[in-house]
Amino acid sequence: MTVLDGKQIAKEIREKLADEIKELKQKGNTPGLAVILVGDHPASRSYVLAKERACKELGMHSVLKELPETISEGDLLNCIQSYNSDEQIDGILVQLPLPSHINESKIIEAIIPEKDVDGFHPINIGRMHAGDEHAFIPCTPLGILEMVKKTGEDISGKHVVVVGRSNLVGKPAGQLFLKENATVTYCHSKTKNLKEQTLQGDILIAAVGRPNIITEDMVRPGAVVIDVGVNRLESGKLCGDVDFEAIKSKAKHITPVPGGVGPMTITMLMNNTVLASKWRKK
Ligand code: GUN
Repeated sequence: MTVLDGKQIAKEIREKLADEIKELKQKGNTPGLAVILVGDHPASRSYVLAKERACKELGMHSVLKELPETISEGDLLNCIQSYNSDEQIDGILVQLPLPSHINESKIIEAIIPEKDVDGFHPINIGRMHAGDEHAFIPCTPLGILEMVKKTGEDISGKHVVVVGRSNLVGKPAGQLFLKENATVTYCHSKTKNLKEQTLQGDILIAAVGRPNIITEDMVRPGAVVIDVGVNRLESGKLCGDVDFEAIKSKAKHITPVPGGVGPMTITMLMNNTVLASKWRKK
């Protein structure tokens, strides 16, 4: 069994990105990311700060725009418009979730698709489904794919079972593995006999947001298990969707929480911002 070290894999990718950014800067193309945080949700704040730190470490231009919880939808749209037309900004990310008085779809659709480094805009979703190479792919699914590739396991023809069907993770993750010629099953809260499905998974992706929903009896021996869950227990401890301790000896490869998918997500955001810069300025 190997524990997939997201921090280490992310570090290797970031080293390559840092070289690429250096070259782009020499040509006068410094990749730039604008991150917009609305309100003061502690988890969102810590994610956003980690994104900004990663930009700085890689020598990218970054702007963090903090807006009050009470901001109107119109003012937030104006803020997005200003970054849409800002030549120094290649990527725009609005941290989700947004306060309930703001229409999330409207905000996502206000970002021009060429700067939508999250890959949440319907144009990018469509491009991804069509297999267009200029689609921005959501960062967490991209990070998952990189980690699975790193195991050296062949993906083609494998059965990938995705538990969770969110627009941010589950749905695009399944699409990405389909493109790699896997057979994909999506499971969700209405799936009957979840265990019967998960036991089919050569690769099992858990993206539900419920602590330890994947137990040892649900995992096929020798599976690759990817845990996307980030759940905070009452004790304050972080835990995933997968019962790591019980499953680690049964899986061939497994990701820990923390230190698994999380660091990869931020790295893929940097990767998408570099791509955005290259695609816009070439
Ligand atoms: N909230 C949780 N994950 C994400 C993400 O990947 N992008 C954005 N914009 N918000 C998030």
